[in-house]
Amino acid sequence: MADKVEKGPSLEGGSGDSLASSRKPTEIPTVAQMIEMQNKAASASGDSAAAGGGTGTPGSPQHPGFVLFKQGAEARLYRGTFLGKPAVLKERFSKKYRHPRLDEKLTTKRTQGEARTVARARKAGIPTPCIYFVNYQSNCIYMEDLRSATTSRDYIVAVQSVRGGDSFRALQPIMDKIGKTLATMHDGDIIHGDLTTSNIMLKQDSSMPEPQVVLIDFGLSSVSHLPEDKGVDLYVLEKAFLSTHPNTEELFSIILKSYTRHSRKSKEVIKKLDEVRLRGRKRTMVG
Ligand SMILES: Nc1ncnc2c1ncn2[C@@H]1O[C@H](COP(=O)(O)OP(=O)(O)OP(=O)(O)O)[C@@H](O)[C@H]1O
Ligand SMILES: [Mg+2]
Repeated sequence: MADKVEKGPSLEGGSGDSLASSRKPTEIPTVAQMIEMQNKAASASGDSAAAGGGTGTPGSPQHPGFVLFKQGAEARLYRGTFLGKPAVLKERFSKKYRHPRLDEKLTTKRTQGEARTVARARKAGIPTPCIYFVNYQSNCIYMEDLRSATTSRDYIVAVQSVRGGDSFRALQPIMDKIGKTLATMHDGDIIHGDLTTSNIMLKQDSSMPEPQVVLIDFGLSSVSHLPEDKGVDLYVLEKAFLSTHPNTEELFSIILKSYTRHSRKSKEVIKKLDEVRLRGRKRTMVG
């Protein structure tokens, strides 16, 4: 999870934010509005990296021209340009508490895994950021910057923060799309390994009538046709979803319903999910 540098969802916008000021506080924002407000708030606070800038600033000493915008437990994310294109640089750093050789192996394995799976996912028609270049010496991935995007985590939190709005109805179509995307991913035998609402992004620019689901952060991914592995993948998401967004069981069930409708092998996967849930519950009871 990366959230030390990042800012939480803001519906306030920056100063002179036309969208935020034209929107009534009880009105639920669309994904496009939310992205615009986040970008404006970031520009107003001078946060060029969060606003999708990153060029023209001195940048980091290790990565000239790139500006840090997120620092996670295992990776740092920078914004800049790569061969003239807006790019995100994801650098996995070493963990001092691990044995140096094991650490090097794990870090390279995750970088490799992420690059390979993104290629496989794109082939299977799953929207993920395009990878421009991988440096295995420094464990850096240069990828497309999803500028007109926000995490589904931020969007859910923002929608739920609107008092009086029907957040369930507003989020339903997005949950439906997430379920469909996960079904396509699993039908392509890709196991994400770290499904959370921070790793499921929503993209929408002015040319897009509807938001698109984009999956990121494939460092723990694997390839498997086994329903068990797919069931565990959904279980990881369920756990993360319900702890990040409390009391959203009904909302999460839309993801599963959509998954069931769209995946070719959903019956076996959902059966495994039920088994994994039961095992989890037994473990909790035994302590
Ligand atoms: N290509 C991208 N374009 C725009 N924003 C991105 C992109 N990739 C990542 N982000 C942002 O950075 C955050 C962290 O990225 P990511 O999930 O890849 O790293 P992480 O969780 O720190 O990684 P790891 O789990 O490997 O430690 C995302 O939640 C998202 O907000
Ligand atoms: Mg992540």
